[in-house]
Amino acid sequence: MNVLVFADPTAASLHIVDEVSKIVRERPEVVLGLATGGTPTDVYRELVRRQQAGDIDLSGVTTFNLDEYVGLSPEHPQSFASFMRHHLFDHVGLSVDRTHLPPGRCDDFSAAARDYEADIARHGGIDWQLLGIGDNGHIAFNEPGSPAGSRTRIVQLTAETIEANSRFFDDPRDVPRRAITMGIGTILEAKRIRLLAFGAQKAAAVAAAIQGPVGDDCPASFLRRHPDVTFVLDRAAAGRLQREVGANPES
Ligand code: PGA
Repeated sequence: MNVLVFADPTAASLHIVDEVSKIVRERPEVVLGLATGGTPTDVYRELVRRQQAGDIDLSGVTTFNLDEYVGLSPEHPQSFASFMRHHLFDHVGLSVDRTHLPPGRCDDFSAAARDYEADIARHGGIDWQLLGIGDNGHIAFNEPGSPAGSRTRIVQLTAETIEANSRFFDDPRDVPRRAITMGIGTILEAKRIRLLAFGAQKAAAVAAAIQGPVGDDCPASFLRRHPDVTFVLDRAAAGRLQREVGANPES
């Protein structure tokens, strides 16, 4: 696995955007795996800027998001579907049929989870997957204890995740307790994976993922089984890594 350490979140985000820009220029119909949360918003802002400046054309890509809250419709302002429309989809000429999120509301979540996996497979799999990491080491909503081979499914959120995500809700009691998420096995099938993490708050999870034991105590540690993973960090998120990891600070 590769570890890149940048001076600040802006530089780290630009690295990601440069990579996406290059990929999309080479392959306009690439399948991108996307993430929500506070971490990727600068990435999306810069992608929108480049699209509107005519530097890139995202209108041909297909996207699959990692997860969605159970109980929230796509129109709900705190749904991840709304987040993606607001931060990216509405501004880059992406038609709805090219964007995919697991459903937050449906009659049969088991069938929806199977359909989501089948849809990814039908598109030839995810070429490039963006990830964040939770303070507890989760990737997507695969909380500690999630098996390496897990697939898209309904999960219970931990108290820690509910607390961390309450900042996006007017009333913390409104944070859903369950989510539908790609599994770790689903994520590990992406051809390339880029994990973005900023801030001292993430430093312990990042260190556990890169230098702790590989296991379900830290779901992000399973990424070490993947042949093409890069952790893209700011200095604060890299603050607890031992030097021998070979991180190359860039200024
Ligand atoms: P954040 O969430 O980007 O809002 O910090 C990341 C995550 O929980 O995976």
